[in-house]
Amino acid sequence: MGEVETLEGVAVARIDAAEDLAALEALRVEYLGKQGSISGLLKTLGGMSPEERQTEGPKIHALREVVQAALAARKDGLEGAALEARLAAETLDLSLPAPDAPKGSVHPVSQVMDELAEIFADMGFAVATGPEIEDDWYNFTALNMPESHPARAMHDTFYFPDTAPQGGRMLLRTHTSPVQVRTMMAEGTPLRIIAPGRVYRSDSDATHTPMFHQVEGLVIDKDIHLGHLKWTLETFLKAFFERDDIVLRLRPSYFPFTEPSVEVDVGFAIENGPDGKGRRVLGGSGDEPGHGWMELLGSGMVNRKVIEMSGLDPDQWQGFAFGVGVDRLAMLKYGMDDLRAFFDGDVRWLKHYGFSAFDQPTLSGGVGARA
Ligand code: DAH
Repeated sequence: MGEVETLEGVAVARIDAAEDLAALEALRVEYLGKQGSISGLLKTLGGMSPEERQTEGPKIHALREVVQAALAARKDGLEGAALEARLAAETLDLSLPAPDAPKGSVHPVSQVMDELAEIFADMGFAVATGPEIEDDWYNFTALNMPESHPARAMHDTFYFPDTAPQGGRMLLRTHTSPVQVRTMMAEGTPLRIIAPGRVYRSDSDATHTPMFHQVEGLVIDKDIHLGHLKWTLETFLKAFFERDDIVLRLRPSYFPFTEPSVEVDVGFAIENGPDGKGRRVLGGSGDEPGHGWMELLGSGMVNRKVIEMSGLDPDQWQGFAFGVGVDRLAMLKYGMDDLRAFFDGDVRWLKHYGFSAFDQPTLSGGVGARA
């Protein structure tokens, strides 16, 4: 066997045995590279006699072709095997449970505020906001509580040392009612708004925290009367508590910013919970045996003086307003009994009472539905 045949046998065997693409590339260089042995053989053609060239030339060219073909075939084989291996290693089992990554939750107060916005939006109310650092004038004076008014003392106000632009002192708003005045001044009439947000009072026990949440409601239009107020509150509370048997009782009361003022009670029944303890469940008239009335919110027809101080003509425009504790609503609906836990930031509490970000309240899906 001549040199060419020997070389071919060895080259093809080595190429077929190449373990990976790097080894294969080394062989290509060794045989076909500039300094390669087959390239070297091709160069010898120049120094041969014509006869010799005639017999050796085709052999060497054939050798080159065989080696090139062997390299290409092995390359295909190695690449195919590499792809198979990758596909086998990278399988993804979509039926496996998602890894247990830490998840955040939506605080019940945020959830309830979203529920309120959803319910009132359906009745044509927009959401309004105002500052938490408030001017004495908006928080008290414009709401018919002048400097010397005794109702101011009931608010346990946090004051700042700073003097307010309107003359009094700056303070942390004690209720969401100043948003009534700000919205009337900024937007004029007619108005249908709710104003949810944080309020502050220097008070702390199981049912009071120095910061808590209220939602204010305000309707200003022509010929508005207490019937509109009662219907609105009834419709809201039925949607919120998802019960048709919510019964309200309006009691005469006093707030400086409404005239007349009414306190709204809601009827409840006492039912035995799973722990055997009696719990209050909203629904039904509070006058039935085994039932009672629970005070829920303050409201009334907006006082003429407030409408006037907000720059509107009280002979033309009337309205009603209400204010209710959001935390209280959350406690009643979702069964929490200590308000302080709302603001402790304990992840176990949040895990238990919090909501998934997917629990978007919608009227069609139920405002209290958990995904
Ligand atoms: N601002 C009152 C409070 O914080 C609640 C309230 C009562 C709001 C009657 C109103 C209202 O709008 O009409 O105690």
